[in-house]
Formats: sequence, C-alpha cells, structure tokens
Amino acid sequence: MLTDYSLKMPKNINAGEHAIEQLEGIITQASKIVIFTDKGILATGLVDLPKAIIEKAGIDYTIISDIPAEPNYHEAQAMVDEFKKENADFIIAIGGGSVMDVAKLSSILATDEYTVKDLLDDPLLAKKQITSLMIPTTAGTGAEATPNSIVGVPEKDLKIGIVNPEMIADYVILDSRMIKNLPKPIAAATGVDALCHAIECFTSAKANPISNTFALEALDLIMNNIIEACTNPEALDAKSHMLLGSFYAGVAITSSGTTAVHALSYPLGGKYHIAHGVSNAMLLTPVMKFNEPAIKDLLAVAYDRVVKDGDKDLAVDEKSAYMISKLEEIVKILEIPTSLKTFNVPEEDLDGLVAAGMEVTRLLVNNKREVTPEDARNIYLEVM
Ligand SMILES: NC(=O)c1ccc[n+]([C@@H]2O[C@H](COP(=O)([O-])OP(=O)(O)OC[C@H]3O[C@@H](n4cnc5c(N)ncnc54)[C@H](O)[C@@H]3O)[C@@H](O)[C@H]2O)c1
Ligand SMILES: [Zn+2]
Repeated sequence: MLTDYSLKMPKNINAGEHAIEQLEGIITQASKIVIFTDKGILATGLVDLPKAIIEKAGIDYTIISDIPAEPNYHEAQAMVDEFKKENADFIIAIGGGSVMDVAKLSSILATDEYTVKDLLDDPLLAKKQITSLMIPTTAGTGAEATPNSIVGVPEKDLKIGIVNPEMIADYVILDSRMIKNLPKPIAAATGVDALCHAIECFTSAKANPISNTFALEALDLIMNNIIEACTNPEALDAKSHMLLGSFYAGVAITSSGTTAVHALSYPLGGKYHIAHGVSNAMLLTPVMKFNEPAIKDLLAVAYDRVVKDGDKDLAVDEKSAYMISKLEEIVKILEIPTSLKTFNVPEEDLDGLVAAGMEVTRLLVNNKREVTPEDARNIYLEVM
C-alpha cells in the first residue's frame, strides 16, 4: 500500500436519466462553444438535443466532427488547430474516448505556445485555458474523469498516454440515453475496457484506499451489468450502471493506474490499429493468469464484493480462480476476438511487439508481478 495518495477529479458531475438537460445551467457563462464529436455519433442524432439547448440559449457554437477513431498525435494536432481558429471559450465533447481525448488536449493547447508533440516529451508543460465539459457516449474509457489523453505515435508503433491534471474536465454529464443505442461490438469492447480499468486499478501497485473505493464499486457495477447492457437494447438500468461504473473506473485510474493489460495493449493499438477495448479484452485473461500469484488475495476480496451469490468460505485460490474465469467468460459471451490472427498479425512481429510493450514503463511499473521481456513474449504468444 502506498503511504501517500491523492485524487483529482472533475468538479461538477451531473448524472441521471435526463442529465443532458442540465446543460442549460452549465453554459450560461459561455460566449462561443465548440462541440467536439465524430461522424458516427453525429449520424446517431445524439448531438441534436445538446445543440438545441445551446441554440435556445442563443450562444454561438461550431461543431468539429472530423475526429478519427483513436487519433495519432498528428491527427490530434490537426483537430487542436481547427479548434484554435474558432476563438471559443467553452468546449463540449460528445463522444467516446477518441473525441474526449482530443477535446481535453484542446482545452490546454488553445494558444500557439505548445503542441501535442511537445506534450509527448513533457506532458506537464501546458495549463488549462478553456472550460471543458465531457459527455461520454461509450461506457467506456472513463476519459471524462481522467487527466489522460491517449494518442498514437506512429514512429514508435505505440499509443502513448499524455497525463496532465490540467486536462481534467470541469464538467461531466452522464446521461444513459447517450449509450442506449450503442452497437453491440462497440458496447462490448468499450465495456470491457472499463472492466479492465477497474480490475487493473484495484490490483495495481498504486492502488490505495481512495482508488479502491472507486475501483471496487466500478467492478461491481460493470461485472454485474455488462452482459445485460451489451445484449439487451432495452436494459436501460444496466446501461446506466455501466456509464456510472466506467466513470468510477476512470476516477480509479486517476488515483491508481492501469497495469500490464493496458501496457501490452498499446502496441496492438499503435501498430495494428486494433480498437483499444478489443486489444485489452484479448490480453485481460492472459495477464490476470500471469499476475495471479501476486494478486490472488485481492481477487478474493473482489470476489466477496462482486459475486452476489458467492460462497464467502471458499479458499483464496478458489475465489481468485473464479474471478479470472468470470472475466474470461465475459469476453467470450460478448464475442470479442481473442486472437491476433483475426487482425493478421504475423508471428514474426513478436520481437517488435515485445520491444514496444516493454517501453510502456509508465504502466508496467504498476504491475504487482514484474513483467520481463520473456514474460511479455509468452503473454503475446498466448494471443497469437
Ligand atoms: N483518456 C483516457 O483516460 C482514456 C482511457 C481509455 C482509453 N482511451 C482512449 O480512448 C479511445 C477509445 O475510445 P472509445 O473506446 O470510447 O471509442 P471511440 O471514441 O474511438 O469510438 C469508437 C466508435 O464508436 C462510435 N460511437 C461512439 N459512441 C457511439 C454511440 N453512442 N452510438 C453509436 N456509435 C458510437 C464512434 O463514432 C466510433 O466510430 C482510444 O484512443 C483509447 O486509447 C482514453
Ligand atoms: Zn483503457
């Protein structure tokens, strides 16, 4: 357990069935708003209600919707540059992690002083310049809660997390209508991403009493609702629980940190553009099995919290094994691909993958069991 720990989080959180309507009271100080979103979300009509509220308030606004999924840092910079032309004083992100991460970068890069590339070298350079509001449409990355923005770095075949507390959103709106019609493959992959955040943060070397509070509640909400939320379009309660769970898991990331699942996942996103939630889902069971000797006590604690009809008298080994089997079952039921063959990753790329994965020291140091290059190779081999 760490001796010192802390938590920074968004100052204003509005949640509930009609939370979007709170927008009216939030934007009163804004004179020019930029709405960040992407083409897929725009097509769903999810931007219509926030847009109508802004129009009713008579506030000038522009929509920037050409954000690509999982942008690299050049693409993110191009979006920041588009934003700068608007001279806005308020940002609203309506989207998944890709949209929110670009919006968060824009909130600290509104002048020409620094670029996204500068932040890759020194993430703490820039300060908050623009008030920001995050409305997640996936459940999800938890990016609405975190100080992180993840960008691809093509020359390193990696994704890299820029971490700067100045990027933490000022406002968050969690409205389950935003995820109601999420297509199943996206709901499944983004849901398992949130699941990974919760279990990794709870078993991280940086875990602490504050992060555990959020990580365990997130794990409980997510494990007990993810299947229903992803497979039953009418399961609004389950979807609300997922949205809250993914937010809590994002809060847990901020105070604790993810571990080897996310570390080894970044090269799969960076080089092969496998969706973030899918690459995490693929690595979840192999990494948890690898970590089990170092985290079984924690998995037993998680079992007691999460498994509603569980047998408290089971041995630690049994509880831990059950938890790992449940995680594996969730990925299977949700039909998320678990082999790199699906993405035509050739076995001769293994050395490169191991080298790139081992570079993610920011997260590997959080893993309770040390991951050597040989271990990373064996884990990747399991998903080859
Ligand atoms: N900043 C953080 O703390 C953090 C944490 C985890 C992941 N991430 C990053 O977030 C990105 C992934 O974000 P994501 O998983 O939310 O996916 P995403 O934002 O890339 O969106 C994936 C697809 O889903 C569509 N979509 C989103 N919401 C929808 C909705 N409600 N209905 C229909 N379609 C919808 C989008 O149009 C897009 O095509 C990655 O770059 C990842 O590295 C960031
Ligand atoms: Zn993630």
